[in-house]
Amino acid sequence: MSWGMENRLSRIIRPDGHTLMLAVDHGYFMGPTTGLEALGETVNPLLPYGDSLMLTRGALRQYISPQLDTPIIMRVSGGTSILNKNLLHEGITVSMEDAIRLNATAVAFSILVGAEFERDTLLAFTQVVDEAERYGIPTLAVTAVGKALVRDAKYLSLASRMAAELGARIVKTYYCENFERVINTCPVPVVIAGGKKIPEHDALTLAYNAIRSGAAGVAMGRNIFQSEAPVAMIRTVRAIVHDGINDAEAKEMYEEIKNA
Ligand code: R5P
Repeated sequence: MSWGMENRLSRIIRPDGHTLMLAVDHGYFMGPTTGLEALGETVNPLLPYGDSLMLTRGALRQYISPQLDTPIIMRVSGGTSILNKNLLHEGITVSMEDAIRLNATAVAFSILVGAEFERDTLLAFTQVVDEAERYGIPTLAVTAVGKALVRDAKYLSLASRMAAELGARIVKTYYCENFERVINTCPVPVVIAGGKKIPEHDALTLAYNAIRSGAAGVAMGRNIFQSEAPVAMIRTVRAIVHDGINDAEAKEMYEEIKNA
């Protein structure tokens, strides 16, 4: 592995082997997602607590100060909206040149294993991997899941392993029952997405279960920025990821910070 690749990976996955990614890239297919209408105002107070910030180039340019000290994971896939029945039939939306110009530390691309159009997403993904590797930039594969597909260990281990074998340096997937199977069969670090907004205590349990099962971390968006107390939420998720607190401790911590 080149020095540059190792350095970038170590800025994202911290020395304890864990990472908290603050994901705010939803606008590229969901538009002004609840909580991100004024993205900068939502994200700025959360920045001190995330190890990295996952977003689009447009959001980075328009809402985030260039003085930012947090590593950027740039979303480089897209092409369909929530209105499209072939949602997630994504292609490359950002050239590697522009990702470098914007000082991305990593790039993120969604693949959709099992969709009719899976081949398109997998081949575009490998093209991104080839270009990113040339510059020592890690590619994070997002294992997107269509409505018709089941988010179980069998499917998610298939998609995660494929992503790693096709060149991902980090895989983002969903937590599921028997998640250890996904972890044990994927040779690169795995992080989980938070998914749709659920009650805060349930989201903390989700993060705890993922870390306990061997996930390297959490890429969480809506369950942080749509929370009734986003700063309390991100600080507590951070303590689960980096300080090893359990879910009961996390719930207590969240309530304490929220009510302070
Ligand atoms: C999907 O829009 C993106 O990949 C998100 O970054 C990812 O799903 C994490 O965000 P959330 O926790 O809201 O699912």
